[in-house]
Parts: sequence; C-alpha cells; structure tokens
Amino acid sequence: MINIAVLGYGTVGSGVVEVINTNHKSINKRAGEEIRIKYVLDLRDFPGDPVQEILVHDYEIIINDPEVDIIVEVMGGIEPAHTFVKRALMAGKSVCTSNKALVAKYGPELMEIAREKDINFLFEASCGGGIPIIRALNSSLTADEIDEITGILNGTTNYMLYKMSTEGCGFETALKEAQEKGYAEADPTADVEGYDACRKIAILSSLAYGKFLNYEDIYTEGITKLTPEDMEYAKELGMTIKLLATSRKIGEDSFYAMVAPFLIGQDSPLYSVNDVFNGIFVHGNVLGDAMFYGSGAGKLPTASAVVADVVDEARHLHRNLMTNWNSRPLKLMELDEVKGRFFVRVKGTTVEDVEKVFGKVKVVNLKNLPGEFAFITESMKQGEYKEKAKMLNGSIKAMIRVKD
Ligand code: HSE
Repeated sequence: MINIAVLGYGTVGSGVVEVINTNHKSINKRAGEEIRIKYVLDLRDFPGDPVQEILVHDYEIIINDPEVDIIVEVMGGIEPAHTFVKRALMAGKSVCTSNKALVAKYGPELMEIAREKDINFLFEASCGGGIPIIRALNSSLTADEIDEITGILNGTTNYMLYKMSTEGCGFETALKEAQEKGYAEADPTADVEGYDACRKIAILSSLAYGKFLNYEDIYTEGITKLTPEDMEYAKELGMTIKLLATSRKIGEDSFYAMVAPFLIGQDSPLYSVNDVFNGIFVHGNVLGDAMFYGSGAGKLPTASAVVADVVDEARHLHRNLMTNWNSRPLKLMELDEVKGRFFVRVKGTTVEDVEKVFGKVKVVNLKNLPGEFAFITESMKQGEYKEKAKMLNGSIKAMIRVKD
C-alpha cells in the first residue's frame, strides 16, 4: 500500500480525493499497489464530509509519519507551500503539485533536492490543466530539438475572450462566469494580467530548452485593455484574438518569450481552441508540428493530472524521472529585436500619413466606428515599430501583435 497526504482541500484538493475514490480500481492497477489517502491537511473543518475522518490541521503529523510516501501539494501560493514541499522532499517523500507559482519560482531548488534523494517532484497539473504536456516534453519529445512552444495556457482568459467574442458580453460579466465555474485563480489578477500564463510558459520552456527560464524575465501583457471593438476588427479580418504565451529558439543560444494578446488567423491550430480549453503548439526540428489540446482548468481535469503524477511516483518510488530539467539559467534576447507584424487602431490621421511612416499597410474599416481605422503592418522588429509609432503623434488607440 502507498500512503499519500493531500495538502489543501480546496477546488483541486477535493477533486484529487474525488478522482482517487471514483477510479480507485484502475488507479491501483496502474500504480501496481493500492493508493490510500491517509491524510488531508486543511485549516478548515468540513462537517458532514467523509474527508473529516482523515482531516488534520497540523502538518507535523504528516511530515513525521514514516508511512506517508507521497505528498500532494494543492494549496496554491508560495508559502507555506514552499516550506512544506521542501521539508517533504528533504524527508525523502515524493511530491506532486498543481502549483505553477511554486514551480516557476522554486523549481530548480526543489528539483535538485528530488534528484539528490532519488525521489520525485512532479508538476503535470501546473500547466495546461488535464493536458499531459509536461510528460510529453520530459519523456516523449526526447528525439527533438524544440524550437517553439506557443500556447493558450490560461483557461479563464480563453473562456472570457470566447464569451466576449461570441456573445458580445463585457469583461466583468465574462470574468464573473469564469470565477463561478471554478476556473479563475483566487485573485483573478493573475489570470487577466497574464501572470498565470507567464509562469506556465516559463515552466514549459525550461523543460523544452533544457535551461531554466525565470518567469520574471518574460514580457507579459494581459487582456484588460481589450475592447469589444478590437473583437469586431478581428472578426472583420476573419481572425480572432487569443492570449498567447510563446517562446522561441531562433539561434544556438538565442531565445525570446512573451505573453500577450495576439490576432490569429483561421490557419492557426490555436484559432479553434475556445471556451476554457487550452491548446499548446510545439515545433521540433525533426517532429515538425504537434498540438496538444484539452481541458485547461477546473477541478476534475486538474485533479486528473495530479493523480497521474501520484501514479507515476508510486511506480517509481526511488527513481528520479524528471530527466530533462536543467537549472542553468536561460537568457532571453531583447524583445525590441524580435520581428513580427502589428495590428494598429488609429484616430485623427489618414491612410496616406500612416503609409508615409509604415510603408504599404493592410487597412480595415468598421462602419460603426467612423473617424478611425485600423491597419496591419509588414513584419518588422518591435523596436522599429516603436520608433515608427512615435511618428504618428498620438493617433494610436491600440496595438495588438499578429501571430505569424
Ligand atoms: N486559473 C487557471 C486558468 C487555472 O484559468 O487556467 C488552471 O491553471
């Protein structure tokens, strides 16, 4: 029998208990032994819930119990999660977590302890909800040099943008619905400002490129400035707007990464990733394109990924599995050097004046927005775009990058 302890009985924690109870037969078969939840840690009580029988309020009971082999950290946040996880690993207990903030900040430290102790620190649920993307990057795509990861990595904002685009509803209504469905973070700022997607692309890039990408180095822009008019322009162009988290290797030691809203066309496999779904596009030098798609947030999809880690850890109690991780730092190039096309909305200027600055552009007008128009530039470095934009003397109302 393998004894586990679940830290946190919130949305994901209660999902983990539900998944293990619902699928216990197949899970035990796959793990090769019975998985038993010995403890659930939470500060609260849950009268009437069977979890009450295994509920503890004191972490010392768990850490000092030699029968506990695996600890599931689903509390979220940095502290006390970091202290609890570090102590668990130091005590020789494997850990799995859904906590992207923890992995993005302390991944190198925790991974090194797990490696030294020949145990595991796994984090499948930290990126892409129920999509097995970490496992794919660590143990499936090992024949490739990966040169691009571009993902819709935040279910909340994808849900919101989909609602705003298809139902014309406002930002606040869309956010409220996403929160009610249990997709959003406790503080939804992390979702709507892109911080959540930023941590996820940092984790995925670290695995894909074999060097640690610090999330604090990634340029991050959220969806709070997007308006229904931007959505209308996108439709008029036969495109849509998605919050993309992207990283690319463009030379032997040359990488860039960013999180921002992008206009994408119907030829992109990410165009049809709607609602709360996540999609992760990966390009490898021998594989070519691969696309991973699935439920990106929510109680049971996330719990499914957590429990898959429990099964893996139960099968490899004393063998470290995270072989693709390397803690050497990955340095990013200046964003101003990165090339792309730009969608720009302007007011109080003319196409002629715009073309004097930007050269030939693709122009789009909306009948219900007289006095303004939008254009898409040719490909240019971001630094060059910024210089040209200054020359339009304050006529620019909005700029959104275009995904190539
Ligand atoms: N708030 C996150 C999201 C939860 O919406 O994607 C899953 O990480």
